[in-house]
Amino acid sequence: MEILDGKKTAADIRQEIAAEVERMVQAGQKRPHLAAILVGHDGGSETYVANKVKACEACGFQSTLLRFEDTITEDELLAEVRRLNDDPGIDGFIVQLPLPRHISEQRVIETIDYRKDVDGFHPINAGRLFAGLPCYISATPKGILELLRRHGVETAGRRVVILGRSNIVGKPLAGLMMQRAYGDATVTVCHSRTRNLAEECRRADILVAAIGQPGFVTADMVRPGVTVVDVGTTRVPDASRPRGFRLSGDVRFDEVAPLCAHITPVPGGVGPMTIAMLMQNTLAAARGDIYPRITAAD
Ligand code: GUN
Repeated sequence: MEILDGKKTAADIRQEIAAEVERMVQAGQKRPHLAAILVGHDGGSETYVANKVKACEACGFQSTLLRFEDTITEDELLAEVRRLNDDPGIDGFIVQLPLPRHISEQRVIETIDYRKDVDGFHPINAGRLFAGLPCYISATPKGILELLRRHGVETAGRRVVILGRSNIVGKPLAGLMMQRAYGDATVTVCHSRTRNLAEECRRADILVAAIGQPGFVTADMVRPGVTVVDVGTTRVPDASRPRGFRLSGDVRFDEVAPLCAHITPVPGGVGPMTIAMLMQNTLAAARGDIYPRITAAD
């Protein structure tokens, strides 16, 4: 059984990006600049955004964190998004989700200029992904593919079973895994209405759990020799930990891991890869690799 070490792989990717940024700076180009909007004080979101800012530093990027209280109105937040759209110094930006209930996440996402949408959440990017067109690919699915590729895990022709159909992970991962240019796999997406779920899971060569239910995947749900990718990162109370919680994946690691050819740990698996892919997308934005760079004249 091999652990798919996302922490190490993400560190390698940050170094590669940093080297490319130094080449760009030597050539007289400006450093890539990522902005992040964080609304409120959700503990998980605070940690994710702090890690994104740290990753920017490691990559040699400029970063800007815009923080707002959860009393901000939707109109005020949309105005901030438009301001970032129009700021030629910002190559790409993200609005950390979830947002407070009084704000429509969909309206916010659709207000982001798709050419700066390094999360890949805008419907133009999500649609272009399914059409096989150049786009920003959302970071978690992209990170899963990159982690498998860098560990030599073949996806072509394999049965990939995805638990979860979210816009952020399940749906875009299914779109990537089925395409010849990416996964080239046979894909099944399971969800709360799936019948014979354990049976579906047992058919998987690669099983991806992205449902946010700690310990959902048990040993009886996997076939020996499977590759398991655990996207879950739920905070569960744990008085023995200094912060009073631990991160739990969707997979019961202790009982599933011995059956696996490969498995991702939580933490240290998919999470760091997600952030590394956000950095790759920001670099692509700064270089104009996917869409022409937005100039002040636009
Ligand atoms: N919330 C959970 N994952 C993500 C992510 O990848 N991007 C943003 N913006 N919010 C998230």
